[in-house]
Amino acid sequence: MREELYIFPDRESLSRTAASMIATLAAGTIEAKGTFSIALSGGDTPKRLFTLLGAEYAPAVPWSRVHFFWADERCVPKDDEESNFKNAYERWLSRIALPEGTIHRIRGELSPAHAAAQYEDELRRAFGGEGLPSFDLIVLGMGSDGHTASLFPGAASLDEKERLAIPVYADVLKSWRVTLTLPVLNNAEHILFLVAGASKAETLGALFNAEPRSEQRRRSPAGLVRPGHGVLTWLVDEDAAQSVPSQVIRTPSPSD
Ligand code: 6PG
Repeated sequence: MREELYIFPDRESLSRTAASMIATLAAGTIEAKGTFSIALSGGDTPKRLFTLLGAEYAPAVPWSRVHFFWADERCVPKDDEESNFKNAYERWLSRIALPEGTIHRIRGELSPAHAAAQYEDELRRAFGGEGLPSFDLIVLGMGSDGHTASLFPGAASLDEKERLAIPVYADVLKSWRVTLTLPVLNNAEHILFLVAGASKAETLGALFNAEPRSEQRRRSPAGLVRPGHGVLTWLVDEDAAQSVPSQVIRTPSPSD
């Protein structure tokens, strides 16, 4: 596994670099193998990225060769303001030409257990067979508590080894979600974390100041995402990077 961390002065430059990286990775992967699989996260951080990918970066990729998935979803209808699908669809996917069968959303309108089972079936169909899906790219965020996707600190979901997608009740948020499990995240070719804002600084600093396999690192689910045969890239703004030790910081950004 290769891990790299880049720092940006603000969300705009972080989002632009993320868009450029995703477009380049997608175009190159499609060139090499004819398709590209990506799983998206929700929340605020990726909103500007999605807008950029649906606008000025849209021409850079033959999007009809891309299969879109989600790392997690809230158990709400697809037109609900809370929906991670809606977050990406309105800003990006609705603005690019996509054939039927390339958007694999988690059906938040179903019961949590049914939505997770249906998504797992869809993953197995899309990736073929009983093995672990290997996404070309998974875009993740990190909460101030260190959660990522809908994998929360101390949750039993962190120990799931068999299932690909599971229903989880987010105590802090008092809501049901469906999330990919760590075995799927850690089987990705590339993980791209987007982390911005001072509220993330303490958790991110603790994560990078801890040894990779230490208990401290385990306290943050984001610290458990370590794609064994892949690349782990962090794009972080200065506010969130305040406590990250200088020896792990690389500048200039990857697009320079
Ligand atoms: C979700 C996301 C979640 C998100 C973090 C960070 O469904 O909310 O998948 O894991 O990435 O909570 O969210 P922000 O980008 O809003 O800080």
